[in-house]
Amino acid sequence: MKEIIKEEFKAPRVFLVTDKGIMDSGIGNQVLSQFERAQVFDEVESNPKSPTVDKAGELVQKVKPDLVIGLGGGSPMDAAKAIALLATNKGRIEDYEGKAKYKNPPLPVLAIPTTCGTGSEVTWVSVITHPERRFKMSIKGPEMFPAVALIDPELLISLPPPLIASTGIDALTHAIEAYTAKGATKFSDNFARQAGELIFDSLQDAFENIKDNKEARVKIMSGSTLAGVAFGNSDVGAVHCLAEACGGLYDLPHGELNSIFLPHVMEFNLPVAKTRYAEIAELAGIQEKDENLASQELVHKIKSMSRAMNIPSFHDLGLAESEFPDIACGAFHNNSNPSNPREVKYEDYLAILNTALHSS
Ligand SMILES: [Fe+2]
Repeated sequence: MKEIIKEEFKAPRVFLVTDKGIMDSGIGNQVLSQFERAQVFDEVESNPKSPTVDKAGELVQKVKPDLVIGLGGGSPMDAAKAIALLATNKGRIEDYEGKAKYKNPPLPVLAIPTTCGTGSEVTWVSVITHPERRFKMSIKGPEMFPAVALIDPELLISLPPPLIASTGIDALTHAIEAYTAKGATKFSDNFARQAGELIFDSLQDAFENIKDNKEARVKIMSGSTLAGVAFGNSDVGAVHCLAEACGGLYDLPHGELNSIFLPHVMEFNLPVAKTRYAEIAELAGIQEKDENLASQELVHKIKSMSRAMNIPSFHDLGLAESEFPDIACGAFHNNSNPSNPREVKYEDYLAILNTALHSS
């Protein structure tokens, strides 16, 4: 790491953005040992909230670092990107909701993922929850890509199995949605296919024993980052629209929500996306030549994977059907809704939510 820092950043004063779990695990101190001057902000919660980012923003304006480090899962990395923006721009993070609303380019960010799902280390977006609006804001811009992403599969060794499962399925959702998004290109396809193959090949093994399986660690971490490059170029679709609406309203884990909605959105998309799903099925080792059957086998495989990794069902999350209109409305108005391969109306989101609730 020292060589990379020396090459990319000159004598940096760093501002480390992370969470308490990462500091307790010792990974935070491993990173800090590489720097002489560092300020730590370890208060990032899951689904990072705007008051937390604003608090760190006030601190970062005083500290005046040269570099912001985002260390952890998607939450600390997204928070780090937002804090880097507030280091060079006055105000609160909600003032910068949308695309390139900042006046000055944010500080450079070094992103170090410690989970296998988010892809935030290679994307230009920071997703921050506004608690009063119960809404996930997207803050993005070309200057918000991390300057350097340090991908080290060894950081996954102590990741608990439930987090491997939920972040791994998040990565798989990125690959599948990127491959079927309306904006998919040959470039994004290439990354999505590689990611899909690596993730199908390693997720179950990583879940069962990541500590003793270096090959699984390398494959799942690489798959996660490649899936990030894929959806960063083509976008995600209706699975993420539902997961973001639900996560913003009820503060539920992003990866679990994706794994709940993924098979149901795929079933909805089948009439227009079966060729692409059949291609993904092949990458998943499904040997079925008929596109319809291959796509259905893929959906079935994803449901079985989630069950085998003990991911909760939608029913387990305890949401009432009376809350579905708010979720469907949020999903319908999500920026990524137009990217889904099949047009999804408000009523379609309601129907998907009902199917997900009543499926075992
Ligand atoms: Fe995601």
